Amino acid sequence: MHEDLERVLFTEEQIRHRIAQLAAEISRDYAGREPVLVTVLKGAVFFMSALARELMIPVRLDFLGIASFSPGRALPGVVRITKDLDQSIHGADVLLIEDIVDTGLTLRYLRNMLASREPASLEVCSFLDKVPRRLVEIPIKYRGFEIPDRFVVGFGLDYSQRYRTLPCVGILKSQIYQGKS
Ligand code: IMP
Repeated sequence: MHEDLERVLFTEEQIRHRIAQLAAEISRDYAGREPVLVTVLKGAVFFMSALARELMIPVRLDFLGIASFSPGRALPGVVRITKDLDQSIHGADVLLIEDIVDTGLTLRYLRNMLASREPASLEVCSFLDKVPRRLVEIPIKYRGFEIPDRFVVGFGLDYSQRYRTLPCVGILKSQIYQGKS
């Protein structure tokens, strides 16, 4: 799968190091509390499990399944929930775990939906942040890496369900999604 990458942006080692830093920060901020890590399926699962292993505080896990409507076919940023949380987050400290924030529309929708359930606190932790593409400003308290406006795969991120299991993050060769490979 590596041969389909134009270049590697972050190696396995760099990712491990950055996640350890994030985990230390989160452990400090949430000391004495037991936050719920709400992870968006499927891409963010890889990031969440690496992060959770490094945390020094107890956490609860829950998952949200979403399907974004295709661009141009529905309202942008409207997300369909394919799997809701198993437990109530009312009164809980919630940390929403995302793989990547691009335009920010998905995150805005999810954040509003979770906020309406009245958690005690609600923060966002995203593995990647594609800053140049942002259309709506959403506070992201914890972020792994900022990336340029390129399509990336690996460490949970996919193209057509492929490449999620790559241990690094890289820019996908454009021939792959233009169907010329
Ligand atoms: P947003 O609503 O535009 O922020 O879109 C976020 C979603 O778009 C992510 O959860 C990913 O599923 C997808 N996405 C955006 N950029 C990339 C990328 O570079 N690689 C893989 N998926 C991406």
